[in-house]
Amino acid sequence: MAIDYTQKIPNNVNLADDRTLQRALEQWQPNFITWWDDVGPEGSTNHEVYLRTATSVDPQGWAHFDYVKMRDYRWGIFLNPGDENRQIHFGDHKGEKAWQDVPGEHRANLRRIIVTQGDTEPASVEQQRHLGLTAPSMYDLRNLFQINVEEGRHLWAMVYLLQKFFGRDGREEAGALLERTSGDANNPRILGAFNEKTPDWLAFFMFTYFTDRDGKFQLAALAESAFDPLARTTKFMLTEEAHHMFVGESGVSRVLQRTAQVMNELKTDDPALVRAAGAIDLGTIQRYLNFHYSVTIDLFGADQSSNAATFYSSGLKGRFEEGKRVDDHVLKGQTYKVLEVQNGQLGEKEVPMLNALNEVLRDDFIKDSIAGIGRWNKVLEKAGLSQRLVAPHKAFNRKIGALAGIKMSPDGRVVSEEEWKAHEAEWLPSPADFAFVASLMGPVLEPGKFAGWIAPPAMGINKNPVDFEYVRFG
Ligand SMILES: [Fe+2]
Ligand SMILES: [Fe+2]
Repeated sequence: MAIDYTQKIPNNVNLADDRTLQRALEQWQPNFITWWDDVGPEGSTNHEVYLRTATSVDPQGWAHFDYVKMRDYRWGIFLNPGDENRQIHFGDHKGEKAWQDVPGEHRANLRRIIVTQGDTEPASVEQQRHLGLTAPSMYDLRNLFQINVEEGRHLWAMVYLLQKFFGRDGREEAGALLERTSGDANNPRILGAFNEKTPDWLAFFMFTYFTDRDGKFQLAALAESAFDPLARTTKFMLTEEAHHMFVGESGVSRVLQRTAQVMNELKTDDPALVRAAGAIDLGTIQRYLNFHYSVTIDLFGADQSSNAATFYSSGLKGRFEEGKRVDDHVLKGQTYKVLEVQNGQLGEKEVPMLNALNEVLRDDFIKDSIAGIGRWNKVLEKAGLSQRLVAPHKAFNRKIGALAGIKMSPDGRVVSEEEWKAHEAEWLPSPADFAFVASLMGPVLEPGKFAGWIAPPAMGINKNPVDFEYVRFG
């Protein structure tokens, strides 16, 4: 499974043996570079960035680190090794051989799943394109760029599947992935959260913590797929995704560390004083958390969905860690509790589990997210502070599904429209919060120097010191 870097498109799928596919991808490649130049990281063309590039899909030591100009990054196609005897292990086809090709009856649904996943990858690059201009340090700038090139590679991963298995439709979809643009009024990205702005670095860290974690759960569910090439490609994407979530989790931790330090030095929890000292007050951090959490859990879709049932039963998309679950992996006749709104109040009801699989995945995501919020709280605890961050109620600020019909406070009370309006600025970032956070943004670009609102990391990248020259500016 070694990766062939002598090819125009690095790959471990013997691309050279499939001339039609190779030609199709080589035609798409310059369009990808044009897209990168147009809406990728602003002003970065001549920077040499200390980046990791995949050299194999072996979990041990798959990465090589070196200085690369990002538009010369070796975006390629890397699938985890296959297992000839792999069996479908859930749904109606359980026990049958996994598919090496797309069965005709599942073609439309599989294409839709791959396009929807593929669309998020370039979207996040577009959302983050201005952030390089205001980085809080060279270390953080490098991490942003690493994520950006890897999201570009994730787009390649999905485009490979489209072009190899979906013929002309696949080629058209591959083209359309470069045409939609995050936030564009006429031709937006497919999913809501990927049309939101990522206006500043606190938003970036929240995004990579929460929204890249949505990526983890979606990819993990697709890694179970009966369509083996999809399973193998998403498995390798997951190893890259881990770094993105690390950037988010450690980023917010470092913000908290700095805020706690300022609060202790000034012996205050007055947000105005914390802000005056150039740190981000805990209230603002909580509001950013509320926003990114609620927007991200909407990504899992409607709480009851016949599509979710079809995707599972036909073997297209499993549950998170399907193989570790002890049930029949068919789920017929089983039920699951979802929230519902009745007469303006929140209740619970049991529904067929197959229809509730979006909710099952959302609940898995919530558990994982809350664990990390607990780790953030350890930073506050260690600093001797009594304040804590909390995840808002699952029904807070929802735009999709049954819960979109009510207004809910973060602590789980149904509130009137008036009450919502009166408290919105306490619950979600306000224009004043965004303006304040924007006022703190850099750039701080000397090696080893950090903006005043964020603590340095404990360690550098690839065992290099924190003050290593992670970016050489051209
Ligand atoms: Fe991704
Ligand atoms: Fe990611």
